[in-house]
Amino acid sequence: MNQNEKKIKVAEEALQYIESGCVLGVGSGTTVNCFIEQLSKIKSKIDAVVSASESSSKLLISKNIRVISLKEAGRIPIYIDGADESNSLKQLIKGGGGALTREKILAQSSDRFVCMIDDSKFVSKLGSFPLPIEVIDVASSILALELIKLGGRPVLRESFITDNGNIILDVHNLNITEPIKLEKSINNLPGVVTNGLFAIRPADDLLISSDKGIEKI
Ligand code: A5P
Repeated sequence: MNQNEKKIKVAEEALQYIESGCVLGVGSGTTVNCFIEQLSKIKSKIDAVVSASESSSKLLISKNIRVISLKEAGRIPIYIDGADESNSLKQLIKGGGGALTREKILAQSSDRFVCMIDDSKFVSKLGSFPLPIEVIDVASSILALELIKLGGRPVLRESFITDNGNIILDVHNLNITEPIKLEKSINNLPGVVTNGLFAIRPADDLLISSDKGIEKI
């Protein structure tokens, strides 16, 4: 199976977690796009969706799926999203698509976070994928210096503005031995909106798609 076929399989599997009549949280990215395709087939089963990005909202609306705001929804029973990396503790790196801030808000607002990945993203140690950090533009150079002090090599994501009007620094080479500690340290730097470590609030269920099928952790 190629990576796209694995994404489709894991998206099909994630449908199992949907409860009748629920408001569903949906993240962003290519795996989520596969999930939205599947969701459109059973859309009458759900009440509405809270979406983590403008692009997901657009796709959901094009499938005639009702999109509501988080303010309207309150807490979310189930949140379904992809990730760029996961370790065995279901701690993640997210933000490859730049939607990390709203994704983190939705993950935090959800009772159950189901994460869909393919086996190439399951790692023993997080950090091969550069850590995305959404930052306020005026703070970018001072933050870059702080991130270098943490051992990273920050690279500005070219020609990219987030849905919240901010920029992204992708930080290479971080030695992420303690994900929770690093997530907190980066959060404390003034000018950081969100970092892409999802360790304080990891996933609850991890679905890993491989040639052998879907493994659930
Ligand atoms: C979006 O900002 C990300 O957090 C995505 O969830 C993550 O990058 C996974 O994306 P793909 O499903 O496109 O690999």
